[in-house]
Amino acid sequence: MRVTINKNISLPIYIQIINSIKEQILSGLLPPGFVLPPERKLAASNGVSRSTVIKAYDELKALGLVESHRGKGTVVTEKIEPHPPSKKQQVFPLSWHPLFDKKLGNVNDTISDLMNAGSRQDAVSFDAGICDPRLYPLHQLQAILKEYPLQSEMLGLCAVEGYYPLREELSRLMEERSLSVSPHEVMLLSGSMQGIDFAAHTFLSPGDAVIVEEPTFLQAIQRFRAAGAKIIGIPLDREGIRTDVLEAQLARYKPKFIYTIPTFHNPTGVVMSMRRRKELLDLAHKYQVPILEDDPYGEIHFTKHKYPPLKALDQHGYVIYISTFSKVLFTGFRAGWVIAPEPVMKKFVILKQITDLHVNTPGQFILSRFLREGYYEDHLHQQVTAFQQKRDLTVSALHKAEGLLTFDVPDGGIYIWCKFPENIPQRALLSLCAAKGVNYLPGNLFYPQESDGEHFLRLNYSYEIPDRIEKGISLLLEAVGELNSRNKSPNVKREYNPII
Ligand SMILES: Cc1ncc(COP(=O)(O)O)c(C=O)c1O
Repeated sequence: MRVTINKNISLPIYIQIINSIKEQILSGLLPPGFVLPPERKLAASNGVSRSTVIKAYDELKALGLVESHRGKGTVVTEKIEPHPPSKKQQVFPLSWHPLFDKKLGNVNDTISDLMNAGSRQDAVSFDAGICDPRLYPLHQLQAILKEYPLQSEMLGLCAVEGYYPLREELSRLMEERSLSVSPHEVMLLSGSMQGIDFAAHTFLSPGDAVIVEEPTFLQAIQRFRAAGAKIIGIPLDREGIRTDVLEAQLARYKPKFIYTIPTFHNPTGVVMSMRRRKELLDLAHKYQVPILEDDPYGEIHFTKHKYPPLKALDQHGYVIYISTFSKVLFTGFRAGWVIAPEPVMKKFVILKQITDLHVNTPGQFILSRFLREGYYEDHLHQQVTAFQQKRDLTVSALHKAEGLLTFDVPDGGIYIWCKFPENIPQRALLSLCAAKGVNYLPGNLFYPQESDGEHFLRLNYSYEIPDRIEKGISLLLEAVGELNSRNKSPNVKREYNPII
């Protein structure tokens, strides 16, 4: 066997060895069963190191061209003949499970399971995080399409980072949120969930730790689980993430990042206080851990008070900020955005390019016009007013329960987080509610350990119309009341502690 090596070209020598041997095997010059020279001998005869030959042999093994035989050395593989053609070949059902990535096995399909479980067609829906479709700004969108009829420019490709006029509008929008960024620093995403996905891709390898608030957004838990990460939950109180608990966990686990929803948190509705925002940033700086700030609800506030994003308070470039139009316009747009330090942005741009190239151009075009024409502010104002009315209605309907359900009244966002008596199992309440015709999301879904959150439920008050809100809450209270009197025990704890 002869190996041709040219030391004057830039192709690594081990690849030249592979190519040379591969060519001889494929041309039949080295037949099956042929014993390749021992690594040391081939190295010496070609004036290369033994490790170079070992590397080349390993690659040839990985290609299935040679194999190691005890006592013989490295041998050209026997030819594997394809199955002989048969007239009627039996096709077996494909066994999918062994092919799946094992990390995905950590993620259960809880949401769709729950949604389909015994729910009635006419059920009052407090479950999914969708806003009222009756509030969609249809007229304004139609006006835009009339004024700017579709042209080919709106249907072609655009930059991976997004349609530039929309990035300009987003940079203006961020000014309203106390954040000054140029359009070049904003990148469009297919929903802010894509930002969570990209962060997982960028930072997490199996076994890495990531910090989340406990409870937190279900899909973030699922995404981090799918990455094989160790999810460390930090409890919340009425000021947001418990920074006193966080510090010890940062020191212990050295997490890759902290995921937080500081403003009108999902599912609790909690707003992180200014004091906590500063403490959280100080800890991130001290332990050199980046923060992924998720802000879908910040603009849905019912008081005059506005909370600056962590990104606006961060002077050292530790915060990756993501936001979305899903809760303030509609989820179907799949339009979110990210603002991140440059090295992170570079990774996100690559991920966007290899995932789906860019957000759909017609959607971006329409959105940019919607913002430029000033429709957004009017729409937001109307929507926030409507949500506030729905919140008030939900709260006064819930108060009829006289302590059966305990909860904090949120100042914004779309959720109320309720605690129900501990003598009621979650499953029993969920299925009785489904049978009666009202759906909510069980608290367990929002915890990294599903055994937690057993006596909590999340209500989205923004979706239903007022009459159905009243009907739904009365059905929910009826169910809680029935189960509570059925399971009454002298030890029922009823302390007011809806968050932790
Ligand atoms: C905290 C949080 N992040 C992200 C999302 C999803 O946003 P998008 O539809 O933009 O992917 C939601 C929606 O429920 C959410 O509550």
